[in-house]
Amino acid sequence: MCGIVGYIGKNEAKPILLDGLKRMEYRGYDSAGIAVLEGTNISTCKKEGKLSNLLSALESQEITGRVGIGHTRWATHGQPNDINAHPHSDCRDEIFIIHNGIIENFHELREKLKKHHELTTETDTEVLAHLIEDEMTEGVLLEQAVQQALSHVVGAYGIAVVSSKDPEKIVAARLGSPLVLGIIGEGEFIIASDPTAIIPYTREVVYLDEGEIVTVTPKGYDIRTLENITVTKDVTKIDWDVAQAEKQGYDHFLLKEIMEQPEVIHNGIRGRLIPEEGVAHLGGFLQKEEEWRKIDRITIVACGTASFAAKIGATMIEEYAGVPTRVEIGSEFRYKKPVLDDRTGVIVVSQSGETADTIASLREAKRHGSLTFGIVNVVGSTIAREVDSGAYIHAGPEISVASTKAFVGMVNIFALVTIALGRQREMSLVTGQRIAKELTDIPKLMDQVLALDKQIAKIAKKYYALDHAFYMGRKYNEPIAYEGALKIKEISYLHAEGYAAGEFKHGAIALIDDRFFSVFIAPQDSVYEKNLSNIQEVRARGGKVIAVTTEGNTDMENFADDVIYIPKTLEMLTPLLSVIPLQLFAYHVAKLRDCDIDQPRNLAKSVTVE
Ligand code: F6R
Repeated sequence: MCGIVGYIGKNEAKPILLDGLKRMEYRGYDSAGIAVLEGTNISTCKKEGKLSNLLSALESQEITGRVGIGHTRWATHGQPNDINAHPHSDCRDEIFIIHNGIIENFHELREKLKKHHELTTETDTEVLAHLIEDEMTEGVLLEQAVQQALSHVVGAYGIAVVSSKDPEKIVAARLGSPLVLGIIGEGEFIIASDPTAIIPYTREVVYLDEGEIVTVTPKGYDIRTLENITVTKDVTKIDWDVAQAEKQGYDHFLLKEIMEQPEVIHNGIRGRLIPEEGVAHLGGFLQKEEEWRKIDRITIVACGTASFAAKIGATMIEEYAGVPTRVEIGSEFRYKKPVLDDRTGVIVVSQSGETADTIASLREAKRHGSLTFGIVNVVGSTIAREVDSGAYIHAGPEISVASTKAFVGMVNIFALVTIALGRQREMSLVTGQRIAKELTDIPKLMDQVLALDKQIAKIAKKYYALDHAFYMGRKYNEPIAYEGALKIKEISYLHAEGYAAGEFKHGAIALIDDRFFSVFIAPQDSVYEKNLSNIQEVRARGGKVIAVTTEGNTDMENFADDVIYIPKTLEMLTPLLSVIPLQLFAYHVAKLRDCDIDQPRNLAKSVTVE
C-alpha cells in the first residue's frame, strides 16, 4: 500500500524523507519519489522499483531544503514506472502532490482538465495537482486551493502538497486513507500515513480524522474540516514499538490483513457499483463489452486460494448470468487440450499476477483466440499486462504468505463481473439492484463477523491439539470448505480436508472418530436442510462439529458442539462472510500451536515456478 511522509523543520528534509520511506517499505511498493523545497525552488526525483533505485538517482542530484514530501507507490492506476511515480505536479511544476487512495471520478475530471492542462501520466493523482493549479489564483493560499480542489473529488485520499507559490508549508488532507501528524519540537513536524515513519522522531502525534485538512508551517499547525471549520485536537502519545507499528498493533500481518477485509470490499466496489441502476461499471469489461456479449461459455483459470474464489465466481455467473462456466487449476489446464475458441471467455485470477501456471494457461488461452480477462491484485504484473482487459482487486499488498484479503477481493470482483455479464443478458434491473445493494452492505456485516474474534479464539482452544479436520459446505460454500481447510493446513500444519458436504458419505465418512473434528459452513440458504442432514451423519458417528450458520438460527446449537453466527446476506455473497470465522480460527489454532504464521514453512508468497 502506498506510503506518505512529509517533513518541515530545522533539518535537511531529504534524509528524513528517505528514512521514512525506508521504514514504510514493509507495506509493499513499486516506485518511490520525493520533492523538496528550498525557498521557492522545488527539486524532485522519482524512480520505478525499490528505494535503492531512488537512492542511486539521488547520488547524481543535489537536493537540499527543509520542507519536503516523499512517497512509496503501490500502483492502482497505470503501470509502475518513473512517470507514474509520485510526486505529481501541475503544468508549471509549481505544485507537487503525493496521494494514497483512489479518485473515483478521475476519468470525468481528467476529460475536463485535458482541455486546458497537459496531463502526462496515467495516474488518478495527477488530476489533483491540476485541480489545485486551477484554484491557486493570485492571493489564494495553498490550503484554500487544496480545500477547493478537493470539493470536486469523489473517492478516497490521504494527500500531502507543497508549492513554490506558497512555500514553507505542507498541506495534508485525509478522507478514507490515514494520516498522522508528528510533533517533533518547536517548528519541526513530520507527517505520515503510517506511524512507523514517525516513531524514530517523536511519539507525540495528532491523528487526522476523516474530512480534515492540516496546514503545517514552522510556526505551527492548523487543522480544519474540508468545510473550513477549525478543529481542536488532542495530542496523543504512541506507545507501540516499530515492529508493532508495522503491523498497526496486530501481532501478525495475517491478522491485520483479515481485519482489513471490509476496506478491501469498499475499495473494490468504489466507483464501480451503481446500486440504483443495478449495474457494475468495470472499466476493463466495458472496454470489451461487445466481445463479452458474444461469449457463450467461460473458463476460469487460477491456482490455490484464487481457484476457490474462481469456483464461487463460476457458481455466481451460472446462476445469475446464465453463462456455462467451469474452473480449471492452472497446473492442469496448461497440459490439457483445452476446448477453446473465440466464443469462450477466459478469466484468469491471481493475487500476485506472477503465478507461473496461471501465466502459462493465459498464454495458451490467447493462442486459441479466446477473449481474456484478468482479476489481479498487483498492478502492472505479468498477468495484468498480458490479458485483453481486466479488473484490479484493490486489496493493497498482501504481506502474509497465506492469502486472506485478496481472496475476498477476488470474490468481490466476481460479484461485479456477474452483474456486468448478467445485465448484458437476462438479469433484471431488480436483481441487479438487489445484488448491488447487498454487496454495498457487506463491509459493515464483515465488521460484525470480525468482532467474533474472541469467541473464535476460545473455540480454537478446544480443538487446536487435534490433528485432523474436515471442512464441509455446499453450493456457494463448498469452495469455502476448501479454503478453510487450506488456510488451517498452511498456517497451523493441522491436517485438514475440504469436502463437498454431500460427497462425504461416499467414502470419507469412514475416517470419523474422536480424533477428528468437522467444520460445517451451513448458513440458512437453499441447501441448509441438506447440510443439516450431513451434520447429523457426522454427529451420529461420534464426530465433533463446529458450525458456521446464520444469526438467529439457534436451532443449530442442538446439532453442533460449537456454533459461530454470521449475519444474513444474499446467498451468493455468504462466502464473503463465512470465510472470516475460518480465517480467524486457523489463525488462533496456528498461534496456539506456536507456528510461524506470516511465513509458514515450505511456502513462498508467489509461486513463479512450475
Ligand atoms: C494460499 C495461497 C496460494 C495462492 C496461489 C495462487 O493461501 O496463497 O494458494 O492462492 O499460489 O497465487 P496467486 O493468487 O498469486 O496467483
